Amino acid sequence: MKQVGLLLLFVCLSAGIVLAQELPAGEAALGTRKYEQYEKPEVCKSCHVDIYQQWTQAMMSQAYTHHWDEIEYFDLAVAHGKVDPKFKPVSDGCNGCHTPMAFLAGDVPPPRPEANSRANESVSCDVCHTIKGMAGDTPHNFSYISNPGRLKYGPKPGLESPHHETEESDFLKQAQFCGNCHNEKDPWGMWVKGTQLEWLEGPYSKEGVPCHRCHMPKARGKNATMSQEDDVAQHLFHGAHDPGKLAGAVELRMHPEVREVAYDEAVVVKVQLFNAKAGHKIPTGSVEDRIVWLHVTATDAEGKEYHLPVDPKGFEGEEYTIADDVLAYQDLGIPLGKSDFPGVQRDGVPVGDRIFRKPYFDEQGRMTIMQWNTASFGPDYRIGPRETKIETFTWQLPDDIALGKITFKAVLNYQKLVKPVAELLNVPEDESEINIINTATTWVEVYE
Ligand code: HEC
Ligand code: HEC
Ligand code: HEC
Ligand code: HEC
Ligand code: HEC
Repeated sequence: MKQVGLLLLFVCLSAGIVLAQELPAGEAALGTRKYEQYEKPEVCKSCHVDIYQQWTQAMMSQAYTHHWDEIEYFDLAVAHGKVDPKFKPVSDGCNGCHTPMAFLAGDVPPPRPEANSRANESVSCDVCHTIKGMAGDTPHNFSYISNPGRLKYGPKPGLESPHHETEESDFLKQAQFCGNCHNEKDPWGMWVKGTQLEWLEGPYSKEGVPCHRCHMPKARGKNATMSQEDDVAQHLFHGAHDPGKLAGAVELRMHPEVREVAYDEAVVVKVQLFNAKAGHKIPTGSVEDRIVWLHVTATDAEGKEYHLPVDPKGFEGEEYTIADDVLAYQDLGIPLGKSDFPGVQRDGVPVGDRIFRKPYFDEQGRMTIMQWNTASFGPDYRIGPRETKIETFTWQLPDDIALGKITFKAVLNYQKLVKPVAELLNVPEDESEINIINTATTWVEVYE
């Protein structure tokens, strides 16, 4: 009896050890691998020519080296971890998604990009193609299981390669795979990134359209130089850094309630915004940084231009969705070592414009762009997949309005990083350039 018990105990213990040794994921995977276990993208390049070149143009290959990532990681996240040790694990965790090999190798913080270390490979071919599965039920916070070696997981069965073994992986083809890095939970348990969760709630998951269909579309071509023609997943991963991906993502139309108005009346104009192109909310991903706003103007018969502020709807927290002249982001003072930092302008866009956003708040209820420092959220006023929002603009015609035609114009703008923050942190201008998502026009006639 005693011997059987001991034997059982031994079996259970060793099984536990083997599992723990073999497949650590998430935070537990820190320092459990070596860089040498992963092949460099340049190795794959010799045969997977097109895929390699596509990847070098995608943000995946720059997730560690890109200027804004370097600034936010070193100047804010690592610095925050030094001031407040509670945030040290969080700053290590950045690498779990932005440079997984460095995280797995325990090289945290990795050398700066200028050192040209292997951390610069960012989200590389071998990182994705050696992911075996994930830990837990909801993918988030680098929950992938990395199994580096000669075996590469791919979408197709039975392929032969002179360089490696291949195996079909259903997991790779699912949105969950992307969710490992595109969902993020912070130390307060807040979902500070939830692209895969938004997708899951929306229509595209029900129709079986994963992320891949829009970000890795298939086209006739060759997988590798020596392979047969087939439908091949293009490694575009195009998103907010591609103006063409943003263009038309939301469709705009606008109309007045009446076409003919007397010179002393008010005009009511309505704008419809339809998220026609994205499988998730707009904006998604780095929601704390992004700003999407609707700017409406009127031009009278004499060419005089007026700016129309949006009509408030009256929901709780709406003030965060209408541009204003107020300061925010005071918590940036903590990592920057500036006590009593007054903050910078919250929006940096024309006062009165509607902003489609979800505000992130720190413990003191101040808006923050440090997603790891988010203790609560304001209203989620983003445009859901295939959702249409309506904005109304009521405008009392000014006394000196010219008679004749008034033309209205609505412009939906997108900026990756709120401009006042970009200026404070010296982030190069391309990160705060304005991209126009769409425009619409309409008109009314003013009579005596
Ligand atoms: C010497 C040439 C060569 C090199 C180097 C090479 N591969 Fe391949 N690979 C191939 C060939 C050939 C195939 C099979 C293609 C086919 O039949 O369509 C293939 C297939 C694959 C597949 C499976 C694709 C599918 O549709 O399921 C993956 C994934 C893959 N390679 C990843 C990589 C990665 C990652 C690297 C670098 C670490 C790499 N390969 C290096 C030649 C190569
Ligand atoms: C029906 C097509 C479609 C599907 C499905 C889709 N996307 Fe997108 N995605 C888009 C479009 C269009 C944009 C550009 C507009 C925008 O930035 O929201 C975009 C933008 C993005 C961005 C950049 C967002 C930003 O503003 O910084 C990320 C990241 C992204 N998608 C990831 C994903 C992931 C992960 C999935 C699956 C869970 C997914 N997408 C599913 C169409 C799609
Ligand atoms: C962010 C993760 C990611 C990265 C980085 C990545 N891939 Fe892929 N790759 C995928 C996914 C996912 C698929 C399957 C797409 C599908 O079937 O919809 C795929 C498919 C492939 C295929 C098969 C294409 C086909 O349809 O037959 C090859 C070959 C491949 N990748 C090679 C590479 C190489 C080489 C690199 C680096 C230059 C690379 N991948 C980088 C995720 C990635
Ligand atoms: C290992 C982690 C990881 C996986 C897996 C992953 N991504 Fe990403 N992805 C990232 C990181 C990190 C960035 C941010 C890059 C940056 O701007 O620094 C990113 C950025 C993006 C962007 C935005 C590009 C832009 O122009 O702004 C898109 C789109 C995207 N990923 C799509 C996908 C899709 C689709 C999948 C699944 C097939 C996927 N990702 C899987 C880590 C990952
Ligand atoms: C769970 C995975 C994950 C973790 C953890 C993570 N990120 Fe990201 N990060 C992403 C993805 C995915 C994107 C792309 C989202 C998008 O395109 O909107 C991104 C985007 C960014 C961007 C914006 C890039 C751009 O060019 O607009 C910065 C900066 C950034 N992350 C820094 C950090 C820092 C610093 C940390 C640690 C405190 C961190 N990230 C933790 C996945 C992650």
